[in-house]
Amino acid sequence: MRKPIVVGNWKLNGSHADNESLVTGVLSEMADMAAIDVAVCPPFVFIPQVADLAKSTSLGVGGQNCSEHDSGAFTGEVAPAMLFDVGARYVILGHSERRAMYGETNEVVSDKVKAALAAGLTPILCVGETLEERESDQTEAVVRQQLAAVIAGNGIASFERMVIAYEPVWAIGTGRTATPEQAQEVHAFIRGQLADHDASVAQSVRIQYGGSMKPANAAELLAQQDIDGGLIGGASLKAEDFLGICRAAADTVGNQ
Ligand code: 13P
Repeated sequence: MRKPIVVGNWKLNGSHADNESLVTGVLSEMADMAAIDVAVCPPFVFIPQVADLAKSTSLGVGGQNCSEHDSGAFTGEVAPAMLFDVGARYVILGHSERRAMYGETNEVVSDKVKAALAAGLTPILCVGETLEERESDQTEAVVRQQLAAVIAGNGIASFERMVIAYEPVWAIGTGRTATPEQAQEVHAFIRGQLADHDASVAQSVRIQYGGSMKPANAAELLAQQDIDGGLIGGASLKAEDFLGICRAAADTVGNQ
């Protein structure tokens, strides 16, 4: 059985004061979450603060992006080893907002995965289709290509050290969630793509769902066979909402 993993993607939100109350709230129930992995991904500048608050707890910390380079003349970039150095252990890569707004191609995402793995971080590799792609029946083709680039660049065994997040772009921040059946279908497809290369890697990799997940819809999504957690945007900014999703994930353990 795969251990569920719930991760908060704070996106461009936070302040020292807000972070402290949010993380303190989340930590108040961390002791009940031993059956799952939980992490939050603040903006880069707040990682040291959040890592310090989460020190000696089971709450993990991650970045929302990293450079594919280790060091050098890359103004404004942050290297994966720097993230590790300040306490991050995860990094979200290939988020649709970065693909759409910052021109990240499948190949760049693959290079970032390589750099992150080399630095000892666990990449959370985001894949997913736009509404236009879904409506023109291209969901599987898009997701296949997104995965294929990372498999070609890093090898199938690298997925043992990764988490995948399926985030349909049309469900992100829109309040429009994929139905459990729609999500499960793509999750099973993702696992099938990996199984074409290595069945045991495919069985062990955790695939999160992301896109308007909230306490009210988390349980039915997480009940699906191939949904192993959530990557949470808006609902990760309120401790009670984030914890509601964590509880739903913890509840699935032992029920399967
Ligand atoms: P929302 O939960 O706000 O839809 O965002 C999902 C997301 O993009 C997480 O990475």
